[in-house]
Amino acid sequence: MPLFLAGIGASAGGLEAVRALLSHLPLTRKLAYVVAQHQAADFNAQKLVDLVQPNCPLRVEVAQSGRTLLPDHVYWLPAGQDGRVDGKVLLLAPGSGVSKPSVDSLLQSLATNFGSRALGVILSGAGGDGVLGCRAIQAAGGLTMAQSPETARFPGMPTAAIQAGVVDRILDAEKMGNLLLQRLTDREAPPGMATLLELVQRATGVDFRGYKEETLQRRLQRRLNGLKLPGLEAYFELVRRRPEELSQLQQDFLVSLSGFFRDPECFAALSGELKAWLLHHRGPVRVWVPACATGEEVYSLAMLLVEMLGAEQASQRCSLEACDLNSVALETARRGIYSAEAVSKLEPTRLQRHFVSTGNGYRVSELLRSMCRFQQQDVLTAPIPERLDLISCRNLLIYLQSGLQGELLRRFRKSLRPGGLLFLAPSETTGTVGATLFTPVDKQHRLYRSRGGLSA
Ligand SMILES: C[S@@+](CC[C@H](N)C(=O)[O-])C[C@H]1O[C@@H](n2cnc3c(N)ncnc32)[C@H](O)[C@@H]1O
Repeated sequence: MPLFLAGIGASAGGLEAVRALLSHLPLTRKLAYVVAQHQAADFNAQKLVDLVQPNCPLRVEVAQSGRTLLPDHVYWLPAGQDGRVDGKVLLLAPGSGVSKPSVDSLLQSLATNFGSRALGVILSGAGGDGVLGCRAIQAAGGLTMAQSPETARFPGMPTAAIQAGVVDRILDAEKMGNLLLQRLTDREAPPGMATLLELVQRATGVDFRGYKEETLQRRLQRRLNGLKLPGLEAYFELVRRRPEELSQLQQDFLVSLSGFFRDPECFAALSGELKAWLLHHRGPVRVWVPACATGEEVYSLAMLLVEMLGAEQASQRCSLEACDLNSVALETARRGIYSAEAVSKLEPTRLQRHFVSTGNGYRVSELLRSMCRFQQQDVLTAPIPERLDLISCRNLLIYLQSGLQGELLRRFRKSLRPGGLLFLAPSETTGTVGATLFTPVDKQHRLYRSRGGLSA
């Protein structure tokens, strides 16, 4: 049975809320929990476990590194340690941030490893830890919830997540157990969803019917919350009065989150493979990046190529075509201007080589911009460029049902030259259909080669 995993983030005033949440949890045989509550470095987490266990129907224990997560268990991260999951194994490492354990790193690893089975919970605390983690969980199709700030001793953490727009549901800690249970059992589309998707397609031309319903439902719920509407009936009523609302919903269905060298170890694996290939390949280098969002992935690939080939060769030989449905995200991609936060994880030498400061941000160099072309296109229907050397399609397949994933992988295979590379994100694989089309080059880092020869 697939395991669901909830990451619970809390800080000051969090114990009370964690206790309220844990004492109302049902046994599910499907769901495990990891608690990241900020604690002073010398604190003994066992004391918290002892306080909570008597009222909690699940087994609560201090987390140990290397343990496989079991359903109906609550793992409490010890003081000074950050926790992350790798598959179903919980790993601990000395915390590096200001607040330890870091809620963001825990939730980000849940998003990567559990995708739509990841749940993020933000309880009482001060500061903004948890915002990035909830954003990652939402982007991976999981569910996020925050304690209603008025019931939190310290409302800062839930408020920061709510204001950042990364929370699907806001409720009291003791009511969260029920919602978690619902999440495990009620994964059917509510009546009316099919009609709504048809209306969206008629209004915008975009067909979301092959997308994962649970993700669409959550995006719809967000829109309903934003409009303060009680349900789909009221939404249909609104659409009758304001048909242009459907275009807004279409944009809201798309999660355009990206980053430079997202999953650096995967980019390192890709870089090694490209370098080896470029040693003997002298012709043009053709790259396609579908679902490029705000462009960081495309520019990261262009940086790698410039670093490998030098500016002159790269500009003459490399072309990177990219597309997305989201016109707002594409506008950012085309301008190529990013905030200081967006570039903060780049190596300083890269920042210096490939960016120009604009005063309040950084613009990617003219060279990189000249190599990359962005178009507004639907990946599912637009023609794909041919004889590609690399398709980098990251964090799109996770939104699609398996039928559509298979269809897209078949088209990718056709557009890649024999032996061309396919680069996916850590929570995606080529699946059973893809196994007949692609051979893994580096399974762990989601790098595959199109079957049918190695010719360049
Ligand atoms: C989470 S972002 C991925 C961004 C980037 N690839 C990365 O991994 O950093 C997913 C993107 O897929 C885009 N998308 C979803 N369906 C699409 C479609 N049918 N055609 C083009 N883009 C699509 C969304 O607009 C969104 O920008």
